[in-house]
Amino acid sequence: MENTRRANKLLEPFDLHGLKLPNRVVMASMTRGRAANIDLAPGKIQAAYYAQRASAGLIMAEGTWVNEMSVGFINVPGLYTDKQVEGWSLVTESVHKNGGRIFAQLGHAGVLSHPDHLNGLLPVGPSAVNPKKVVFTTQGPSDSITPRELSVHEIKETVNDYKKAAANAKLAGFDGVEIHVQNPSLISQFLSDALNHRTDEYGGSIPNKARFFFEILDSVLEVWGSGKVSVKFNPYLKYQTDKDEWDDSLPTYEYLADQLNNYPLAFLQLLDYAEEGLDPKVHASRNLFGNFRKIYKGTIVANGGFTFEKANAIIEKGDADLVSFGVLYIANPDLVERIAANAPLNASQAETFYFGAEGGYLDYPTLREQSNKI
Ligand SMILES: Cc1cc2nc3c(=O)[nH]c(=O)nc-3n(C[C@H](O)[C@H](O)[C@H](O)COP(=O)(O)O)c2cc1C
Repeated sequence: MENTRRANKLLEPFDLHGLKLPNRVVMASMTRGRAANIDLAPGKIQAAYYAQRASAGLIMAEGTWVNEMSVGFINVPGLYTDKQVEGWSLVTESVHKNGGRIFAQLGHAGVLSHPDHLNGLLPVGPSAVNPKKVVFTTQGPSDSITPRELSVHEIKETVNDYKKAAANAKLAGFDGVEIHVQNPSLISQFLSDALNHRTDEYGGSIPNKARFFFEILDSVLEVWGSGKVSVKFNPYLKYQTDKDEWDDSLPTYEYLADQLNNYPLAFLQLLDYAEEGLDPKVHASRNLFGNFRKIYKGTIVANGGFTFEKANAIIEKGDADLVSFGVLYIANPDLVERIAANAPLNASQAETFYFGAEGGYLDYPTLREQSNKI
C-alpha cells in the first residue's frame, strides 16, 4: 500500500460547522458485534475501544438500531431504551475525556433481518419482496426470506422511531448523528426499484421512493438543528430484481445529493464501492467523487478503500473535504499518529471483525506501546 506522506492535507484542521476537528481523518462506522447482553447496550469495552481512537478528527460510531424491528445482526447495540442511552453515555464521556468527538449512526436492517432477531416476526420492508441476499441469523449466515410490507401508519411510526433515537443520541452526549442509508438499511431498500414495488406515495417516482428518507431527515434535523446531522450512502448500491437483474439506483442517489443542497447537513459521506465482478479500472473511471462534488455543494466525506496518498490527493483536488477510514482503524487505534510519523500499520484479523470479545478489539497496540516493547 502506498502510504507515503508529502503534503499532509489529512492532518490539517477542519471547522465542521463549529465543531473544531484537529485533522481531516474520520473513523468510519463499523459494526463490531460486542454488545453481548440482553439489552443490546454498549458498555465499558465500547467506551475503551472508542477512547483508544479519540485522536481521529471525528469518530463515527457503529450503526445502532432505532427500534426493535430494526435489529438485523447479533450483539449490535441499539439507541431506543434507557439502558442503551446509559451505555452510549459511557462511550461519549470517555471519547470526550480523551479529547475526541463522536457521532452516532442510526440504522434499520429492514428486509435484511431475520425472525431470529425479531421474536419470530417477519422482517419489514417497503414491499413483500425477498432481497435474495445472505442474512445473519443467531446461528450464522442464511438465505434471506420474504419480508412483510410496512403500512403507511407503520412508516410514520418508523420515522418517529428515528426521531426518538436521534433525541436519545443527544441525551447520550453525542456530537451529532448520521443517517445510515447504505447497505443494509431500510432507507436504501425504499430507494431501490428492485425492492420497492409500492403504488402509494412511498413508491414509484424517485421523489416518492425518497419520501421516507426525507421524512426521517426532517425529523432528525428537528431534534439536532443545523450542522449536526450527516448522511451516508453508496451511490452504486444495487439490489436484485425478481428477474435476477441488478437495479440501478444511481439516478436516485444523484437526486438525493441534489436535494440535500437544501438541507443544513453536517456533511454527506459517500462510499465508493465497486460491485463484485466489475473491472477496477472501469470503476475508477466512473469518478464518483468528482461527479458528486458537482452535484452536492456542502461538506463531503469520502470513503472506500482509501490509502493516505489517495486521501491527501482527493482533498488537495477538492473533490472531498475529509476522508473516512474503516478497516485501517480496526487494527490501528492511533491511525492519526501513524500518518504523522509515516509509521507502518498493524495488520487486522478479519475473523474478529464482527464477533468476539476484547481480542481483536481492544488489544491492537499503539506505536507508543510497540516502541515500549523494543
Ligand atoms: C467490520 C465492518 C463493519 C462495518 N459496519 C458498518 C456500519 O455499521 N455502518 C456503516 O455505515 N458502514 C459499515 N461498514 C463499512 C465501513 O464504514 C466503510 O464504509 C467500508 O469499510 C469502506 O471503508 P474502508 O475501505 O476504509 O474500510 C463496516 C465495515 C466493516 C469492515
